[in-house]
Amino acid sequence: MIKKTLGGKMRELTAEQIQKNYDSLINTIQLHITGDRKEKVLKMYEDMKDRFMMAPASAKEHYHNAMYGGYVDHILRVVDLSLKVKELWEKNGCKIDFTDEELVFSAIHHDLGKVGDLQHDYYIPQDNEWRRKNMGEIFKHNEKCEYMSVTDRAFFLLQHYNIPITKKEFIGIRLTDGMYEEANKSYYIAYKSEFQLRSTIQYILHQADMMASQIEGRLTKESIEKEETETFEKIKNIKEVLDSGDKPTTQQEKPGKISTDLFDELFGDKK
Ligand SMILES: [Fe+2]
Repeated sequence: MIKKTLGGKMRELTAEQIQKNYDSLINTIQLHITGDRKEKVLKMYEDMKDRFMMAPASAKEHYHNAMYGGYVDHILRVVDLSLKVKELWEKNGCKIDFTDEELVFSAIHHDLGKVGDLQHDYYIPQDNEWRRKNMGEIFKHNEKCEYMSVTDRAFFLLQHYNIPITKKEFIGIRLTDGMYEEANKSYYIAYKSEFQLRSTIQYILHQADMMASQIEGRLTKESIEKEETETFEKIKNIKEVLDSGDKPTTQQEKPGKISTDLFDELFGDKK
């Protein structure tokens, strides 16, 4: 589903989809996270439940999942793809040196900082109409949220809830953005053999994240194009009726009524 909201175009999830996605995320945590930290992780999600549910995954129309509920939708896709990409590496002879829990934990939390800090959302609706219409900015960064990189904020939130992480999870979360993040360069480009990354977890997470983002970006683009085609067809129909000069045969079908019907069809219940 797509809706023109806040003056920009965005794909939109229904309330039911948002709720279902959140429930799936909690189920994923229940299934994959073990030990003492499980309750701590669940508490973090419970404390910020509404914000987790509603957070978008990005701010701009042409990025990925710039819609309410886009964050959890993205996370679920990255978890699913991470497990599939891991399988692909494994089937092709790569020895996997991390657990599924480490992979899923990292996938779930690689973008955690996008939810915001302890008090504030990271993304809020863009209130500048010009920027919404001309730059496709559906959301903007919340000035109340003190600057941190998304990844740093993820670690801040995890430590706030006393959630311990393994070294592989740290490397995985830290490097999921791959070389798209300038700060990752010193990890990915090693000039000494002893500095080379030892696990494959970050490559798998990066591939899954990139694939998910690309798929989501394309889903949005396809939805917008579909909506635009439908709108174009409706305008064309109106033009054809008006140009045909069809004479109404009854009092009810007078031109004003036809135009009103077509206007209603095009613009919904706007009066
Ligand atoms: Fe991501």
